[in-house]
Amino acid sequence: MNVAPKEILDLNRFDATRTDGFPPELAERVARRQSSFGASSVLFYEQPIEMVRASGAYMYDVNGRRYLDVYNNVPSVGHCHPRVVEAIARQVGQLNIHTRYLNRVVEDYAEKLLATFPSPLGNLVMTCTGSESNDLAMRIARIGTGGEGFIVTEAAYHGNTALVTEISPSSLRRREPALFVEVIPAPTAHDDMSVEDSFAASVEQAIAKLRARGLALAGMIVDTIFSSDGIYADPPGFLKTAVDIVHRAGGLFIADEVQPGFGRSGGGLWGFRRHGITPDIVTMGKPMGNGFPMGGVVTRPDLLKMFCEETGYFNTFGGNPVAAAAGRAVLEVIEEEGLIEASRSVGTGFRQALEALRMAHPQIGEVRGAGLFIGLDFIDPEQVAPDSALTTHVINEMKQNGILIGAAGKFGATLKIRPPLCFSSDDAAVFVATLDTILEAR
Ligand SMILES: Cc1ncc(COP(=O)(O)O)c(C=O)c1O
Repeated sequence: MNVAPKEILDLNRFDATRTDGFPPELAERVARRQSSFGASSVLFYEQPIEMVRASGAYMYDVNGRRYLDVYNNVPSVGHCHPRVVEAIARQVGQLNIHTRYLNRVVEDYAEKLLATFPSPLGNLVMTCTGSESNDLAMRIARIGTGGEGFIVTEAAYHGNTALVTEISPSSLRRREPALFVEVIPAPTAHDDMSVEDSFAASVEQAIAKLRARGLALAGMIVDTIFSSDGIYADPPGFLKTAVDIVHRAGGLFIADEVQPGFGRSGGGLWGFRRHGITPDIVTMGKPMGNGFPMGGVVTRPDLLKMFCEETGYFNTFGGNPVAAAAGRAVLEVIEEEGLIEASRSVGTGFRQALEALRMAHPQIGEVRGAGLFIGLDFIDPEQVAPDSALTTHVINEMKQNGILIGAAGKFGATLKIRPPLCFSSDDAAVFVATLDTILEAR
């Protein structure tokens, strides 16, 4: 059966042409939104929700209805965590400037963050978003290697700048990525090969194809938990051979930690740690400030020096003291509340319960993941094909039952289970019971 791929922003997207039966107030709110934001406006759900506040793993809508958040990884240590809120408020009342003055809050944060990386990753550039981080990483890789070409996975999303959109196949609606990009499948075992071997073979082929077009390799960039591809975490270590191949071909390995970073995978602070590899460049974003906009690039001093000899880099808001205060509070909360261990233990129990649910429902395909990042495939058991219609149904039904969840994967048929790290085993039990009821009723 042929199933059409889906663009990442289309997953669980509200369709503005279908407002029949909306309460008048909601219809009016949606119309106002559309009229200001036009074609770029993307809202979630068949009936969008107006949110007003949040705390921990819960969000509250305009009517005071509570939702369990199993979707949002930005407020990673918990929505509106008081420690982070207090750190931001204190610093914004004291000083907020760019990085061209010495400031202890900024320098302390850089040292604290860099201490979490293996040698030789010794320098940090602070940005405001994951997109800016990946854009800079690509430019560093090109200057550092003299190569042009990049390898990415087929449903990857790495951000929204002109350059980064080219390495985000899941964003391209009407065309293939640019010629400097080679796209490889998500890491799965096939043709009698292990995940590690088949991924490595794809990388070899991609390098050969770039060479055939006269392009040297600048690097391979992957999200180390392959979020938009559908969450592929296992077996730990499968990236190693591919990374060795990239290095032998003269390229760099860029680990995009925008999704798995800051403890989500439960195997340390960084997703790449599970693979026993040391990237040349690491990019960060979303959970870094728990909602305060901040991103970063960590790399080797020699690479950054080569880049800075070619071109300057200044980011007005990147690395401002308020961002640094937020970032520092996030690192402290992760440590003090044991959130990496919590991610591992709550995530393991959650995955086991979802596995048990799979036994009862043939519409559930694979359950994959690490820590509190789990992917659950929905399939049409008769056609043995991805079932994005069921995924959309489940997402909307979960919302009706007070649970927020999203989708991922090339076909939009993978439930993307990615709650804040303060999510508890009780929350997981509520999720599993609700999913069970929805599938039972289908
Ligand atoms: C893996 C990955 N990298 C980069 C980005 C871009 O981050 P931002 O939206 O902060 O620019 C995203 C955003 O979803 C992402 O998922």
